[in-house]
Amino acid sequence: MCGIVGYTGRKQCVQALLEGLGKLEYRGYDSAGIAVQDGVGLAVRKKEGKLARLLELVAREPVSGTCGVGHTRWATHGRPSDENAHPHRSGAVAVVHNGIIENHQALRKCLTEAGRTFRSETDSEAIAHLLDAFTSAGLPLEAAVRRAVAELKGSYAFLAISEKEPGTVVGARMNCPMVVGVGDKETFFASDLPPLLSHTRQALFLEDREIVVAWPEGVRLTDFAGNLKHRTPQTIDWSPVMAEKGGYRHFMLKEIHEQPRAVLDTLSGRMLPKSGEVVFETLPFPGERLRGLKKVLIVACGTSWHAGLVGKFMIEGLARVPVEVDLGSEYRYRDPVVDEGTLCVPISQSGETADTLAGLREARGKGAIAISICNVVSSTIAREADGVIYTRAGPEIGVASTKAFTTQLAALHLLALHLAAARGTRSGPEVSTHLRDLEELPRKMEEVLKLEAAIAAIARKYEDTRGFLFLGRGLSYPIALEGALKLKEISYIHAEGYPAGEMKHSLIALIDERMPVLVLCAKGETYEKTLSNMEEARARGGRVIAVGTEGDGVLAGKAEDVLYLPPCGRYTLPFLEVVPLQFLAYHMAVIKGTDVDQPRNLAKSVTVE
Ligand code: AGP
Repeated sequence: MCGIVGYTGRKQCVQALLEGLGKLEYRGYDSAGIAVQDGVGLAVRKKEGKLARLLELVAREPVSGTCGVGHTRWATHGRPSDENAHPHRSGAVAVVHNGIIENHQALRKCLTEAGRTFRSETDSEAIAHLLDAFTSAGLPLEAAVRRAVAELKGSYAFLAISEKEPGTVVGARMNCPMVVGVGDKETFFASDLPPLLSHTRQALFLEDREIVVAWPEGVRLTDFAGNLKHRTPQTIDWSPVMAEKGGYRHFMLKEIHEQPRAVLDTLSGRMLPKSGEVVFETLPFPGERLRGLKKVLIVACGTSWHAGLVGKFMIEGLARVPVEVDLGSEYRYRDPVVDEGTLCVPISQSGETADTLAGLREARGKGAIAISICNVVSSTIAREADGVIYTRAGPEIGVASTKAFTTQLAALHLLALHLAAARGTRSGPEVSTHLRDLEELPRKMEEVLKLEAAIAAIARKYEDTRGFLFLGRGLSYPIALEGALKLKEISYIHAEGYPAGEMKHSLIALIDERMPVLVLCAKGETYEKTLSNMEEARARGGRVIAVGTEGDGVLAGKAEDVLYLPPCGRYTLPFLEVVPLQFLAYHMAVIKGTDVDQPRNLAKSVTVE
């Protein structure tokens, strides 16, 4: 996700802004910029690429002032470029924004018709035009922000400055973090703590639907209706490194906890439950092209391949199109049957995995059309497809993929519903039902996150184990595979994910009292048979951990430990099942003392074949 910083006070602010952006680099970004009130007007310096390029630009074209804002951009709308970098300027106003403005297209249309010229492809620029329109009509910046937030839908934390109001910074928060550092006759702003800690330890955390106004003399907090909010600054005793992880011990743990937000962001603006529609801003295919599809080919690697296995169930179940799921590294060796009736869906967090890219090129070379599912805007796999569905997980720093995986599931579920609607295999009301399941999902994922302590306790029971088995049937089988992959890659403990029904054909030979067996056994079509498999494992001395559905009283008598998930829909169960497995892998790794965020021998993006 993007990072924002701001300053107003008596000192020169450019150095503080640039250093603050440097403290946000860990969040991942593709461009950066600052805007400063330079005594004449507003001076904007912004550049695609790493912070060093912005520093070079500022060195070439110096700017100075005591009030300004800065931004590191993680692209969600519009490729990385100088024009798309923040701050966005409109007339006398400059804005930096973190979040997603869901109704940006409608705002862009309305503002363009009113004579405004957009220079970027971003959703954020609409905020700058709104604020300039309101301040040009005579409103002070604070009042303009209050008017603007009434027009905005989606998630945002933005800061604005105007050349008409020297020394004034105004910010607003809805669903994205903003913290205010309170100094001695100076005020700092940031998306989170790292940029503040070298200046002040006194912090005010904005809440949703709040507006902050700051001058060198002080700060005022109000809600969107204008009511004054009194809040005492908190004293922050985090180290800067801890602050980069938001207080979490590792990025992986932070990213596990970010999943409800990441899934919500990935769904935002793409679901119309009332009408039973799914809308993608970046798909070039009309309905009839999708109706003519004969096959979907999903190609991916590792965790993304597991997402593809879940996607097969979703697309075949909802859109009734045959789906093949291939490993990128294997796909080309089977001389695949592909033609113009094939839709290739490469899935990749990084968008740079060589094996997946090779699969995409192989399929397109044989006539397939392609829609990528990627987390990095303008990555190679995103660019080489005909269309792309971006997951909006924000930067995933930990090598072990967590929030990228669940946002891939979200993208796949939306794609399956989109295809189903286009092909008429599901009615509007039926699609609405699934969309409502998805709407409830972030809240249910938050509930599952509360299992962390119980899972850490279970991990401690198995710290000396030599291996771990994960069993699942149907939609839970890919999740069993994912649980095993997570455990292996960060704790170095051997693990196997296996189809529960296949256990009796070989795997059962491995089960004895030293072998922990995690069984995914939620209520649903595979419940009864999986319960039998659990009993088969138990009967051979296996130490069973069951992951089931709240209220299922049967499991306690058949498993040593039971973790309960809230009831949910058929296609949303994988989102909930994977979270306990992520926690188990994480806590086993912490006990083993491995490098959780940078496990040995692994890279975050495997760009070699
Ligand atoms: C997942 O935890 C692993 N880091 C790895 O399997 C990863 O999923 C795989 O390398 C694919 O990466 P991608 O999604 O960036 O293409």
